[in-house]
Amino acid sequence: MIIPYDESGGARGEGARKVSGSRLIHLCGTDDVSEGGTLRVEAEGLTLAVYRIAGHFYVTDDHCTHGPGSLSEGILEGYEIECDFHQGRFDVRTGAVTEPPPMVPVKVYPVVVEGDRVLIEVEAAGATGTEG
Ligand code: FES
Repeated sequence: MIIPYDESGGARGEGARKVSGSRLIHLCGTDDVSEGGTLRVEAEGLTLAVYRIAGHFYVTDDHCTHGPGSLSEGILEGYEIECDFHQGRFDVRTGAVTEPPPMVPVKVYPVVVEGDRVLIEVEAAGATGTEG
């Protein structure tokens, strides 16, 4: 589901930015992710992990940069997601590796919460371009 970016306001949340030429992709409802939990979402050709921490939402690619691990199936501790394959860790706020073996950060997406909807902001053109 593609939701055009609404310049009239109402968008809010971590990393929410009004960038010309951007658009929003609806991922899930706020109630779909339990506090301290994760959710795997497929949208627009992307496979994403949604995290809910202290009432705020964060989104990364679901695919671990080290191998076949699915980060949404990992263990969320604070702001770190631990991949259940080799116990590599990433900061879900920045994507930075906080524990090897991964060496490459995981991609993060600006999150916008509108009412009870969780969305990410992507560039209007070439937004699905994370090959790996
Ligand atoms: S596949 Fe994720 S740490 Fe190795």
